[in-house]
This record gives sequence, C-alpha cells and structure tokens, in this order.
Amino acid sequence: MSTHINAKLGDIADIVLLPGDPMRAKYIAETFLEKPQCYNTVRGMFGYTGTYNGVRISVQGTGMGMPSLSIYVNELLRFYDVKTLIRVGSCGAMQPEVKIRDIILAQAACTTSNMNNRRFPNTSFAPIATFDLLYRTYQEGTAKGYPIHVGNILSEDSFYDDANSNRNQQFIDYGILAVEMEAAELYTLAAKYHADALCVLTVSDSLVTSEETSAEEREKTFNEMITLVLDTVSA
Ligand code: ADE
Repeated sequence: MSTHINAKLGDIADIVLLPGDPMRAKYIAETFLEKPQCYNTVRGMFGYTGTYNGVRISVQGTGMGMPSLSIYVNELLRFYDVKTLIRVGSCGAMQPEVKIRDIILAQAACTTSNMNNRRFPNTSFAPIATFDLLYRTYQEGTAKGYPIHVGNILSEDSFYDDANSNRNQQFIDYGILAVEMEAAELYTLAAKYHADALCVLTVSDSLVTSEETSAEEREKTFNEMITLVLDTVSA
C-alpha cells in the first residue's frame, strides 16, 4: 500500500490508463475491461484492474492538475513498478485546424507550472512522449480513420485565468495545438523513472472558436479515444 493508493503489490497492471476524473476510471473499467476489480477507493480516486483482449490493464483516476496527478503517478512508479502510463483526457484547441472532437497525441508538453522550475532551477527540461508508444497509437488511430493531430501542447496550472491575462497568445503564436493540465508532469515523471508515457486527448472546446462539445459528443469521442488506446496497447 502507498499513501494514496490502497492496492497490494501485484494488484496493478504494468499498463495504466489515467483519466483525470475518477468516475471515468470506473466507467472505462466497467465498459471496456473484462472482470474489472476495484483496487483503490481512497479519497474516491478509483483504480481498477481488468483485461482487454487478454492483456492486463489498470485504470487510475488522477484528479485535475499536475500536483494531483503527480501524487498518483509517483506512487504508481515508485511503489507499484508500473511500466506504461497513458493519460486519457480532454483539452481546449489552440489552433484553427484543431477542431472539437478531434484527437491529439501530445508529442511534448510545455508548461506554466512551477513544478519543473523547482526540479531544474535556472534551466528547462523538455517533457516528451515515448516515441514508440506515440507512433503505435498514431498508426492505430489513422488506420481507424480518426482525425488525429500530433504535436506540442501546453499543460496549464489554472483553468480560470484572470480576465486580462493574455498568456495563451504566445503559445498560440508558437504553434501549440491545445491546452490541458497534466501532461508535462506525467512526461517528466516517466523520464525520471524510465517508464513509457503518452497523453491522448479529445478536444472538448476551442479557444479559437469558443465552441464546446455537447455531453453526447464528449461521450462518443471519449469512447473512440479509449478504444484507440486499448487496441494499441493490447495489439
Ligand atoms: N481541458 C479541456 N479544456 C481545457 C481548457 N480550455 N483549458 C485547460 N484544460 C482543459
């Protein structure tokens, strides 16, 4: 057992999907996995293990934002020896060619968070996805005909900015595809512990057009994203 995960050693699979919302962890496990077993209920941050196409897979909620994700990913890597971590989340589009409902594979993640400033004072670490995992997911997604973008994203610390803040504009100018709140910390921890990591996102809203997806659209694109990830890791 670790501080925030009350699983026994061996309860958690080598491959873990990481939705921010713990109810999504429950939904993924109950909808997509065979024989799902709940291994964590601490703070309602559900974790489940089951199988998909015969491959053992876990799903662990992380909460929103890098400090919360960092707790769960640290414990998965330090205490449960997890090998592959895939964040499955949503994001806001920052480029006109990125449409709502599209899928983004985050090749790298810039961040406004202070977490890496504390780790790497006066320098800058580049958090990146694991190439092999990124490439396999891209191949699977294009074979399925999904609208996929691969590129650099932004992991923000705050969802609600001050009304007069123009901070996102520079990232838009530099071609950042989308904004979310967790990938940079996931990629940094995966690098530290020599694990594989990828962040897969569906576009739920657009900072360019101010469009938002409906609840039904979010569910459909979320299901497509989960199928993409599960088919990739179980192939
Ligand atoms: N996740 C989904 N949409 C987002 C946005 N606009 N900003 C940050 N995180 C998000």
